[in-house]
Amino acid sequence: MMNKKLILLLCLAVHFVNAQKKQPFLWGVATAAYQVDGNYQVDGKGESKWDFLTNKVGITQFTIGEKQTGNVAINMYDRTQYLKDIQLMKELGVNAYRMSLDWSRIIPDGVGAVNEKALAHYDQLFDDLLAAGIEPLVTIYHFDYPAVLLQKGGWGNPEMENWYYNYASVVINRFGKKIKNFITFNEPYIEFFLVENMLNAQNNKLPEKEYYMSQMQKAHRQLIANARVIKLYHDLKLKGQIGIVLNVNPAAPWDEKKVADQKAADFQDVLINGLFLDPLYKGKYPKVALDSLAKYNPSFKPSTEEMAFIGANKPDFLGINFYAPAIVKGEDSAMSLKWLDNNPDEVKSNVGPVRPEYLYKMLMRLKNDYGNPQVIITENGTGFVSEDVKVNGKINDPLRTDYIKRHVEWALKAKKEGVNLFGYTVWSGWDNFEWVSGYTKRLGLIYVDFATQERTPKQSFYEYQKIIKENRSF
Ligand code: FCB
Repeated sequence: MMNKKLILLLCLAVHFVNAQKKQPFLWGVATAAYQVDGNYQVDGKGESKWDFLTNKVGITQFTIGEKQTGNVAINMYDRTQYLKDIQLMKELGVNAYRMSLDWSRIIPDGVGAVNEKALAHYDQLFDDLLAAGIEPLVTIYHFDYPAVLLQKGGWGNPEMENWYYNYASVVINRFGKKIKNFITFNEPYIEFFLVENMLNAQNNKLPEKEYYMSQMQKAHRQLIANARVIKLYHDLKLKGQIGIVLNVNPAAPWDEKKVADQKAADFQDVLINGLFLDPLYKGKYPKVALDSLAKYNPSFKPSTEEMAFIGANKPDFLGINFYAPAIVKGEDSAMSLKWLDNNPDEVKSNVGPVRPEYLYKMLMRLKNDYGNPQVIITENGTGFVSEDVKVNGKINDPLRTDYIKRHVEWALKAKKEGVNLFGYTVWSGWDNFEWVSGYTKRLGLIYVDFATQERTPKQSFYEYQKIIKENRSF
């Protein structure tokens, strides 16, 4: 009897200590270097892939009919500017800020000399954030890298894995004690299968499916680089954690009653989600994906050792970027971007059909099919052409406000049902340079006048502030 009581007391004590130690839920906003930093030649920064694409290729000319660049962006590299932005984050009430480092600032030539000025800048920024009670979540690589490496083939060059490893070790060795959450990569699917596919559409000599599947080698290389850097981080026995960020777009049939739509959705789902989740958590690619690869890219032959290595070096957490499900029609080829055009919503958001319940479904799937990993929603947000207009100094964005509210509700429902969700960061804190769409798509909680850099919090900012206040602790 006595023993039972003692055990119960001990259990309660352990529970109490654990509860004390528990990290608060992370509520944050997100950005990425090229989209916000500007100051593209300051402090010895080298030219990056996106500097090159925007300035020299003039990439946005093909998409929005006008040349736009991130040369100025929203000026966030500037300390005077970012201190004001930290004040806005404090007002919002966030305790986390997801941001990315710029490889072309840290190692301007890709490999070789490290630029101390850039490292000092980030060190100061981290201190400024931490002093404001904001935890930096640091993405080491968010789509961009030194242009010299692009000229050498980028991820098409087997050496890229070593170049990235070298860069990531510089970052981890320098900031590993200060930063508690690192992210190796952002959205390999979007980088290789979506953006590169879009940009290559003109020059591509291969037939559609062959070209699509040829991108797999690069994605695979990135997954190996991810595993190598996770291993490095763990070998260093640092006190924080390291993860990777994937876009998740659970697929759904356009017409639920149509078998062909359902089948196409299932396959599309594998090529967007399973293709990355399975190797990371199960150490293998999905069989149906491998079958298609065998057909359209027979030279792709991942070795047993490589797969075992990826599977053995799992991320400590998974960051998911959720915007919308992929709605698929039977006639769409899964090895294409057709799904992006399918949006049955009457008022269309610029990130796809608004279906917050799919965020919940995806979170439950991670719990049930992938061993319930630690998860953080690293991006979620939207924009509508009709909103984001300043009227009498104010921006009312009821559709974005509603989108965020509903996504948070579904995310918290999943958390209550046992999903290991430890944070949520909105994309984005600020309107910024939206890659091939330039400044034409606004996704921020804070309106930015791109000519004057003036910031104005939108209605959604105040709604998110309320959400955070009401759900500060769990
Ligand atoms: C994601 C990117 C992010 C931003 C949002 C809208 O795919 O990770 O940089 O552009 O889309």
